[in-house]
Amino acid sequence: MPSEPWWKSAVVYQIYPRSFADSDGDGIGDLGGVRAHLDHLQALGIDVLWLSPIYPSPQDDNGYDISDYEDVDPVFGTLGELDALLADLHARGMRLVMDLVVNHTSDEHPWFVESRASKDSPKRDWYFWREQPNNWTSAFSGSAWELDEATGEHYLHVFSRKQPDLNWENPDVREAVYSMMNRWLDRGVDGFRMDVVNFISKTPGLPDGATGAGWRQLGGEHYVCGPRIHEFLQEMHREVFAGRDALLNVGEMPGVTIEDAKLFTDPARHEVDMVFQFEHVNLDQDGTKWKPFPLDLRDLKRSFGRWQEGLAESGWNSLYWNNHDQPRIVSRWGDDGEHRVRSAKALGTLLHLHRGTPYVYQGEELGMTNMAFGSIGEFRDIEALNHYAEAVAEGEDPAAVLASMQPMNRDNARTPMQWDDSPHAGFTAGEPWIGVNPNHAEINAAAAIADRDSVFHHYRRLIELRHDEPAVALGDFTMLLEDDPHVYAFTRALEGTELLVVVNVSGEPASFAAIPDAEAWAGAELVLTNAEPEPRGLELGPWEARVHRR
Ligand code: NOJ
Repeated sequence: MPSEPWWKSAVVYQIYPRSFADSDGDGIGDLGGVRAHLDHLQALGIDVLWLSPIYPSPQDDNGYDISDYEDVDPVFGTLGELDALLADLHARGMRLVMDLVVNHTSDEHPWFVESRASKDSPKRDWYFWREQPNNWTSAFSGSAWELDEATGEHYLHVFSRKQPDLNWENPDVREAVYSMMNRWLDRGVDGFRMDVVNFISKTPGLPDGATGAGWRQLGGEHYVCGPRIHEFLQEMHREVFAGRDALLNVGEMPGVTIEDAKLFTDPARHEVDMVFQFEHVNLDQDGTKWKPFPLDLRDLKRSFGRWQEGLAESGWNSLYWNNHDQPRIVSRWGDDGEHRVRSAKALGTLLHLHRGTPYVYQGEELGMTNMAFGSIGEFRDIEALNHYAEAVAEGEDPAAVLASMQPMNRDNARTPMQWDDSPHAGFTAGEPWIGVNPNHAEINAAAAIADRDSVFHHYRRLIELRHDEPAVALGDFTMLLEDDPHVYAFTRALEGTELLVVVNVSGEPASFAAIPDAEAWAGAELVLTNAEPEPRGLELGPWEARVHRR
């Protein structure tokens, strides 16, 4: 595929370092832990490691509140260890993508410390200061404005009050960010995952919000893909990425529409390579994440189908079920009981064979599940803690609030990686910073690697298929059986090769007899399945997935 970018046939693995592996016994994962487990990544076959933030941080939002962009937090290690990790990865033919948060900094970043010092600080205008707040709300409950006693003004924070938003209207801010990014690339990193990067341009004057427009917070319409966003990303491209080779720049973009995403990822426009969109992970909720309802598979088909079509000619999709903000997919839309292994494989198959770059979040390749949190004291995430405090203060029943938080809270994704069946799952020799899921006795990497039929080996085969079969990376996509509530089916086609993917997304038997040419397909080469013995015919068992080729 000479003229196609490398990342079209690549698979990215996300590590949330806090929860991956602890090498020094302090109960918190670190870079030493990552380095110790590179064999695991290599065995899986991934191409890129995306590392969630490891910069110095007060850890109010687990590192998404950065107080120094140019160093490593001692809790995770040193710059020297990061260089060593980079060298290890490159030696194994893998790339490193850093998570970068530039919509906001920590309130402990020297830029903000200087900005808040006085009304005439040279950095005052690097952030948003107002005498009177507007009506915007924070993603982590309450107002998006915090009163700063020192000067009697309020500053804007779309996320926690320890995450003040940077003012990208100020060219000095932009220049400082670009030069910092250039230093990371000069150091050898292979790109960035840009946190909420479509929030960096705000409507001048910061008017009150009315709807929230696609993002659940009031005011969102004034910063989700704001007025200068394309200009800023093009400038970033010119100042940082242009003239450098083989990088990956993925923009996390809550509330992004297909029309926006087409513009952001059109290679001719030089903005980002691909975006993370949120439409599919919002299909089981309406406005609030705390009252999810069961997914209607037809909605997922409509959503994915539109995104596949929208970016078919130019632009590119990112494909994900999980990350550090989402609950575990096997608990969410699979069956984490009787059919855990099968359903995890089925969902992996469904996702990975779309057109786009798949992202695997640590533990997803083991079929790790959500955790049962017994009390509010077991939660660690600021989003959950703030929501609980606010709901209880408003008079809601604490037990009911706790129960409502189980399915969707972000700590579900942040329980430690399950390496083996030892007391803390092989994650740490100390006391883990967050509880380990008791099911690690059964669900763990050691057991998965030893078992040829595990979720791990199925993911490995999916990744291998993307590497080896060009139709997976580049083929045209056609959705089938749009109105079927249980069977997800589509074809991929490239230069005479056609793949059929059929997945029964239910615990009941189902059939794909209604697809065009079904009999012939059922007799075609079976490239991959999660069923034993090798299935035949047009019937699918519970959570059965098949990939045929002809
Ligand atoms: C998106 C990140 O993924 C999330 O973890 C974080 O809380 C917010 N951005 C704020 O940085």
